Amino acid sequence: MWAVPPLFELYDCIQKPSDPIGKRMRAAYFLRHHYEVNDKHKEGEEDQHDELMKEKIRSEIIQNLGIALKLSNHGSLLRHEFAYVLGQIRDPLACSVLEDVLGDDAECVMVRHECAEALGAIGDKRSLPLLQKLTNDDHFEVSETCGLAVDYMLLKTDVACACMMSPYNSVDPAPASPEHANLSSKEIGIILLDSSLPLFERYRAMFSLRNRGGDECAIELGEALVKDQSSATFRHEVAYVLGQMQRDISVEALHASLERPNEHRMVRHESAEALGAIEGRWDDCERILRKFMDDDDDVVRESCVVALDAADYFGHNDNENGCSEGSNESDAIEKSLTFAGSKAGGCKETYKGIEVGFEYGIEHVKRNHFNTV
Ligand SMILES: [Fe+2]
Ligand SMILES: [Fe+2]
Repeated sequence: MWAVPPLFELYDCIQKPSDPIGKRMRAAYFLRHHYEVNDKHKEGEEDQHDELMKEKIRSEIIQNLGIALKLSNHGSLLRHEFAYVLGQIRDPLACSVLEDVLGDDAECVMVRHECAEALGAIGDKRSLPLLQKLTNDDHFEVSETCGLAVDYMLLKTDVACACMMSPYNSVDPAPASPEHANLSSKEIGIILLDSSLPLFERYRAMFSLRNRGGDECAIELGEALVKDQSSATFRHEVAYVLGQMQRDISVEALHASLERPNEHRMVRHESAEALGAIEGRWDDCERILRKFMDDDDDVVRESCVVALDAADYFGHNDNENGCSEGSNESDAIEKSLTFAGSKAGGCKETYKGIEVGFEYGIEHVKRNHFNTV
């Protein structure tokens, strides 16, 4: 278990681009954890004072992540992770900083893309005009992502099916489709690879496969990662999903994607992080990641460093359970071999025995897209 460091230490870390990248990255995910613990939806009856304190903490977390997102010295990899965390937190308070960065043409495309994904994850209709406008952005990374976010926000359906609920602690850019429930994994794989279909349809196939799980589905996704030539945005999401699934069978496809010289840096980065999450074949993954630690692309290089990172930078784990003095068990989260492993394995993250990710997934799908209660 990782003991979660106190907020002041985390704020300090993410405002300091001179700290090791693994430490800053981990700080962002610890902040997400703090936010979830202080989320009003997580607790039962609160007294008013407690609720005000929690609200203050939540808005401070967003403010600090927003400041860090704008600090260019952090580099593209880390800034896009800050945007990702802001999206996963799903608080509309983060919309204005995300919109600022997304709307700035001078900003790094990878960071703008992640801001668009984050706004889609938050799903607040206030962002719709900007997202709609940027579906015509000159950069496909931005225009395609904005298109997906708009499609999800405007998706109208009243069918809620168990297959649509993410078993992972993530808010996805498209929901799995109940229409895939009667298809074989191979048939869903055909939809996934069909570049004549709208990207949103293919994303739905991707999440249908992920939610179904298992090697057969991981093979379909791995083939799409290697064979698709239509969209790097699509391939980066496939690599991300393979990291969540953590199947040993995906190592070859992820390796092929990481070593492809002309592959987009966003795809190579996600492939590296996904390899860092596959602990069942850790020796192979470690060997592959070490090969790319000197890659010419800084985003790829840093992704390998982070994927291999297992350091306990905050040093609060002073016993077997990782609970430091003064903290209690609810202040500890599952520790994987590496950071990438614990990020991908977010579905195991628990708070007072509740599977946070699953609860969030259901609540999000219901709140944003269905008329169910
Ligand atoms: Fe992304
Ligand atoms: Fe990423």
